[in-house]
Amino acid sequence: MSQPETRGELLQKLRISLAELAAEGIDFVTRPGQREPGAAEARVPAQAVPSTTEARAPRALFSDGFDPNAVTDRAEGLRMIRKELGDCTRCRLHEARRSIVFGEGNPEAPVVFVGEGPGVEEDRTGRPFVGRAGELLTKMIESVGWRREDVYICNIVKCRPPNNRDPHLDEVATCRPFLDWQLLAIRPHVIVTLGKPAISTLLGRNVAITKLRGIWQVWNGISVMPTYHPAYLLRNYTREVRQAVWDDLRTVREHVNEAATRP
Ligand code: URA
Repeated sequence: MSQPETRGELLQKLRISLAELAAEGIDFVTRPGQREPGAAEARVPAQAVPSTTEARAPRALFSDGFDPNAVTDRAEGLRMIRKELGDCTRCRLHEARRSIVFGEGNPEAPVVFVGEGPGVEEDRTGRPFVGRAGELLTKMIESVGWRREDVYICNIVKCRPPNNRDPHLDEVATCRPFLDWQLLAIRPHVIVTLGKPAISTLLGRNVAITKLRGIWQVWNGISVMPTYHPAYLLRNYTREVRQAVWDDLRTVREHVNEAATRP
């Protein structure tokens, strides 16, 4: 039987949900039976509140009028998303960063890898996964027959958290629309999340990576494969952990190959 959740866990879930609703442009919620002051009827009927896994990208036009939900040219979509991000100062992570690490790779990639946030090398170069964990990620990608440039690689936050601390929930929520827009612009066959923060962010709930890794999830109609972060692999370079990651990537490759041959 699962353990009852603690108050702290419930509060964390609530914060994530509220931050996601805020990113969706929903700036209030009502209690059952309560109406927004002055409103003839509640503006957000219960069925209109998206569940976290079905949520579409935030409904907003960019400052130049571009509609990120209507991307037809993936490369152009990514360029417009990067342009909207600009020289971002939306959260405190901008204060100590050297570079914004937007993401890189093939805009037509069948697979997108999502990590946590830039480290020192990524901050120095402006490129995702180029440090030690990145070298291992590149080897992981190559181990199943792809090249790094065939896939797309990005993170849940685009600026390095100081001293490589975990990104805070509000920082993740602030950066979240840009991740959603990237993923929806590319619309890969598979999203591979690396580590607990990436899959927890995507699914909007706090998950145990050891329980969920290797088990298909779905986000906005896109298959998601949670696996371990390469930094975890570096710290736990055991046969068992390596085998688990390799199994996950092989499963992804089979799924992609199968999707590519579907008419
Ligand atoms: N770890 C991450 O999660 N992302 C990077 O880009 C580098 C290290």
